[in-house]
Amino acid sequence: MSHRLFSPLPLRGVTLPNRIGVAPMCQYSCVDGLASAWHMVHLGSRAVGGAGLVLLEAAAVTADGRISPGDLGIWNEAQAQALAPIARFIAEQGAVPGIQLAHAGRKGSTSRPWEGKAGIPPERGGWPVMAPSALPFADGYPLPREMSEADMDGVVEAFANAARRAAAIGMQVIELHMGHGYLMHQFLSPLANLRRDAHGGGFEGRIRMPLRVAAAVRDSLPSELPLFVRLSATDWVDGGWDLPQSIALSQRLKAQGVDLVDCSSGSIRPGSQGSGEPGFQVPLAAAIRRDAGIATAAVGGITEARQAEAILQRGDADLILLARALLRDPYWPLRAAAELEATAPDWPVQYQRAVTRMRG
Ligand SMILES: Cc1cc2nc3c(=O)[nH]c(=O)nc-3n(C[C@H](O)[C@H](O)[C@H](O)COP(=O)(O)O)c2cc1C
Repeated sequence: MSHRLFSPLPLRGVTLPNRIGVAPMCQYSCVDGLASAWHMVHLGSRAVGGAGLVLLEAAAVTADGRISPGDLGIWNEAQAQALAPIARFIAEQGAVPGIQLAHAGRKGSTSRPWEGKAGIPPERGGWPVMAPSALPFADGYPLPREMSEADMDGVVEAFANAARRAAAIGMQVIELHMGHGYLMHQFLSPLANLRRDAHGGGFEGRIRMPLRVAAAVRDSLPSELPLFVRLSATDWVDGGWDLPQSIALSQRLKAQGVDLVDCSSGSIRPGSQGSGEPGFQVPLAAAIRRDAGIATAAVGGITEARQAEAILQRGDADLILLARALLRDPYWPLRAAAELEATAPDWPVQYQRAVTRMRG
């Protein structure tokens, strides 16, 4: 039978060789936002392992847009140059390199997760944060200042500049992080956006800033490069951002030249993350794909080759993104191909002597 998981996915001028992507995963392992040998090994292994798309972790578009002091950055040229060999290596393995661009807003200036997630004061390397409204994410998190028009203009420009830098060093997919309670999601959700001006209130006001960012990034990218947006398709909270609004936003994003919506959920508040059961976010990807007529990525609790294949066969999504399953096993795609008795992806020539063993 033909396997959707190992069929190519053309998007604008870029073709993913298969439909398995590495979901963006912060490594909190940078100094001054610079990628290191860790990133080369971590991301390179997943490209060697056969993923068709390797999406780099949330890269901050400004220094104050970082979640923690260890975040990856792409607000200057030195950071872009540190990423260039990683993009090149991923492409040399036959995978497509991409990067997620992000601004943490009120969830910035916090410690690395393994140091206990909490706000950090300036004397320990913290910084002032901003958000649509002066509401902290939770107790122990910094109090953001309410963003001015000038702040918003600066963020739009920072996203566009970051996208330009990413494209220039060989990233072929750009994803905008508009989920997980970070800055763009803070604009979208009525739980975080209490503004009374043109950037708040009803749906049109709350989507204004994310649409501005998407438009500016699209304009700054060559037309052959695909643009993804990651949404938290629902806040899982009554009165919050929800699936109907995500569908309506996805239609607007599509009209602006966004090519795919990566359907995650939750995290506008502590603990609002959905069930976490296998494939729990797949219905969100299915609904957005069907009702907004845009390609989607399914992510979250996808661990098995047959499960991933079934999602694609049902037409619930166009792409499967894996995070933790690929941390456990960077060769997940090669194992999935063997399990599904599919022929792709090619093993690296250097590893050919291991192939018969795996297939046998
Ligand atoms: C270590 C780690 C870091 C993550 N960092 C990011 C990130 O930078 N950007 C993002 O959108 N999601 C991030 N996520 C969420 C994943 O992309 C993914 O949506 C989530 O883990 C669910 O997929 P899974 O069940 O395959 O792990 C991270 C997840 C993990 C485990």
